Amino acid sequence: MTVAPSRPATDYDRADWASAFRNVGSELTAVGQEASSGTIPAELSGTLYRNGPGRLERGGRWVHHPFDGDGMITALRFEAGAAHLTNRFVRTEGWQAEEEAGQFTYRGVFGTQKPGGPVANAFDLRLKNIANTHVVRLGDKLLALWEASSPHALDPETLDTKGIDLLGGTLATAEAFSAHPRFDPGHHGGRRMVTFGVKAGPRSTIRLMEFDAEGAESGALVADQKRQFKGFAFLHDFAITPQWAVFLQNAVSFNPLGFVFGLKGAAQCLGSKPGVPGEFWLVPRSGEGEALQVPAPEGFVFHHLNAYEEPGVGAAGTVVVDSIFYADFPSIGPGVDFRDVDFATLPIGQLKRCRIDLAVGTVSTEVLEERCCEFATVNPKRVGLKARHAWMAVTEKELGNAPLQAIEKLDLDTGERLLWSAAPRGFVSEPVMVPRAGGTAEDDGWLLVVVWNGARCASDLVILRADDLSEQAVLPLPLAIPHGLHGSWVEAG
Ligand code: CO
Repeated sequence: MTVAPSRPATDYDRADWASAFRNVGSELTAVGQEASSGTIPAELSGTLYRNGPGRLERGGRWVHHPFDGDGMITALRFEAGAAHLTNRFVRTEGWQAEEEAGQFTYRGVFGTQKPGGPVANAFDLRLKNIANTHVVRLGDKLLALWEASSPHALDPETLDTKGIDLLGGTLATAEAFSAHPRFDPGHHGGRRMVTFGVKAGPRSTIRLMEFDAEGAESGALVADQKRQFKGFAFLHDFAITPQWAVFLQNAVSFNPLGFVFGLKGAAQCLGSKPGVPGEFWLVPRSGEGEALQVPAPEGFVFHHLNAYEEPGVGAAGTVVVDSIFYADFPSIGPGVDFRDVDFATLPIGQLKRCRIDLAVGTVSTEVLEERCCEFATVNPKRVGLKARHAWMAVTEKELGNAPLQAIEKLDLDTGERLLWSAAPRGFVSEPVMVPRAGGTAEDDGWLLVVVWNGARCASDLVILRADDLSEQAVLPLPLAIPHGLHGSWVEAG
């Protein structure tokens, strides 16, 4: 096990980190980008799409939590060693109304309130679909996703908003649709987008949907099933194997009174239940056979890395799931400014491996990475299969919580680690792994990382080699992109 930081650990400046929280001031169209160092790999051919909150303040009022900010899509198109940048806000109904009003006219799920105090906010239970969590390509559409409601379709080239999209009548109006689809690389023929929606209540219903994601039929619904489970479901992400969709139902309670009476956002009414274990819910993707429920370790999970199957005798076998566990649900209380958050008090995210014995219904757990991490990924061709390599955003320091400033490559077989660091003034986002076309090694390709550059108060796109994390190019973008959420790579073609 080796830790090889590319620079000595240095403390970050909180002002650098907080300077990323600002409104995105411009919308650019296909603006050519130059590398300030290195060269853009000529083989990189396709588009990096990223989504995240781009509007955090209106009329002098700030969102309570950045997750309440309106979705803004960034597209970086690579071809023959050149790059072009386009960015657009998603023209959601709420964004348009608030642009016109010059102030917040909706409450946010994470606690943002309209002006006027509890009186103005009580009993306003409308959800503002802010389309800010993820962006993926399905067929000829680019979809901006927000898990509590419908996707928005955008033009993949111009990023112009086409509007709410119910995927050819698959979805009911405002039906929940996860922001975490998983792309099955071909375990059942062609590439598929597998995703879900949750209807939460004392009994919760998961709808599991699979769409063709390549060829002429891309976008067609090919599988659709619903399963009911006891308990209030809070499911942000899931993982897939060839046979299973794997959910981790965290032990959470939901008390909506604070939301109804205008004191809290809906997500602030979630609380963890200390001492109560969560539960893995395994849904057979075939739609046939029982769903399995297996007690999970304590802790709170937003994101999974990957899952895979190890065959056993007969119907037995093991499903292995790697996830980022927090000791508790990290939320920001009503009186706290998110820019003042004390990292030392926040639970840290640790990558853990859970092996679910399907015959016995038990789980064994091991820690794969103790350093605080988030946004972990494998090579997209290894989704649902055992992967050797994982890449993730990590803190610069080895212990405790702090902003994410480095990218780690973790060898899941040997525990060997490599680090590339943007510290002290850079802050990383989720790395997107792009396999080299025709490459055979699992770590042959690049990582594309949007980095907040505190010195420049703007964002850089950093291209790393996926195998040794060596820096290939830095593109200083003419855009200040607030700390964002998820993104994806779409190969040219
Ligand atoms: Co997420």
